[in-house]
Amino acid sequence: MSSKRIVPVNTPLFIGNEKKYLNDCIDTGWVSSDGSYVKKFEKEFAKYIGVDHGISVCNGSLAIDLAIAALELKEGDEIILPTFTIISCISSIIRLGLNPVLVDCCPETFNMNPDEVIKKISPKTKAIMVVHIYGLPVDIDPIKEIATKNNIKIIEDSAEMHGQTYKSKKCGSMGDISTFSFYANKHITTGEGGMVLTSDEELAEKCKYYRNLCFKAESRFVHDDLGWNYRMSNIQAAVGLAQLECIDEFILKKRDIGKKYQDRLKNLSEIFQLPIEKNNFAENIYWVFSLVLKQGLNFSLKDITNYLSSHGIGNRPFFWPMHLQPYLLKQDYFKNEKYPNSEYIAKHGFYIPSGLGINDDDINFVCDLIEEAVNELS
Ligand SMILES: Cc1ncc(COP(=O)(O)O)c(C=O)c1O
Repeated sequence: MSSKRIVPVNTPLFIGNEKKYLNDCIDTGWVSSDGSYVKKFEKEFAKYIGVDHGISVCNGSLAIDLAIAALELKEGDEIILPTFTIISCISSIIRLGLNPVLVDCCPETFNMNPDEVIKKISPKTKAIMVVHIYGLPVDIDPIKEIATKNNIKIIEDSAEMHGQTYKSKKCGSMGDISTFSFYANKHITTGEGGMVLTSDEELAEKCKYYRNLCFKAESRFVHDDLGWNYRMSNIQAAVGLAQLECIDEFILKKRDIGKKYQDRLKNLSEIFQLPIEKNNFAENIYWVFSLVLKQGLNFSLKDITNYLSSHGIGNRPFFWPMHLQPYLLKQDYFKNEKYPNSEYIAKHGFYIPSGLGINDDDINFVCDLIEEAVNELS
């Protein structure tokens, strides 16, 4: 009996020195954050992005926590961020007693709209969180210009953008402080993992201090401040270093996956909004390959994603906007605020398998099933 064919939404790819470096950790006994791969990975990743300091952590959500904590803002200070993003972007803002101020996205790129950011700046704005979404970078220049004029810090969440550029500058090199995730579906992975990057020496020192329980060299267990243990292990960093050695190849592969989907699915452009291949700032890096249902169809997002799931095709819905999060509404945030572009894509968007381990056969199978679903449901 043949088993059902399944294409997972993500499959990572390990084709380099991962096993060699992992064996080295085990053979030498260096498995904690004190091992040498942590420093090597931090140094090489920071160099690759083009900043001075890399501070590795356990995941991308905690990288955001650490970056915000290092800015040492005061209760009530405002941080502007997109409503269309992952909960990690807002959770530490709320926990630290800061005020989140939301902006809508551009419907074609899903990225925060710089004009909306400019409108939301107030005397209380102390930081802007720029989050690059799904494959194309935010149009960051106008945001940087107004931030510089008003002495506002930029936190650049580049969790999905390893190796992507904006006008030839690497994502993660343009903020005062930036963050990355190395979760298994990222362009390079450490399983779980993240990093904060900055060229500001003082911010880097604060990140290292808070990441490491605020230990002090001179009196280790006597604490002046409360921190966290957010450290990355040598095992994670060993995998990260090996992955980083392959990053150029991985980016080419992701773009190739994106191109193959574009070629196969362009005949369905009356049904789906496909990702933009390139714009004035960048060529899509396809962290995920997204599809947004157009208006006026006689089937819903649930209909098509259920169809695909029941035929073995992994898929995920889009992020659910922050202003519609039940937890935040219960806490009286964002009452009656409306962000129509984010609401539309959240209610009509999903993404299909596009991890680095996918092959051409799987891509064709996914596209066949999407065509079949559209024919059956229309
Ligand atoms: C934009 C963005 N920020 C932060 C994160 C959180 O990263 P992690 O899953 O490593 O905590 C993600 C995760 O995908 C993300 O997409």
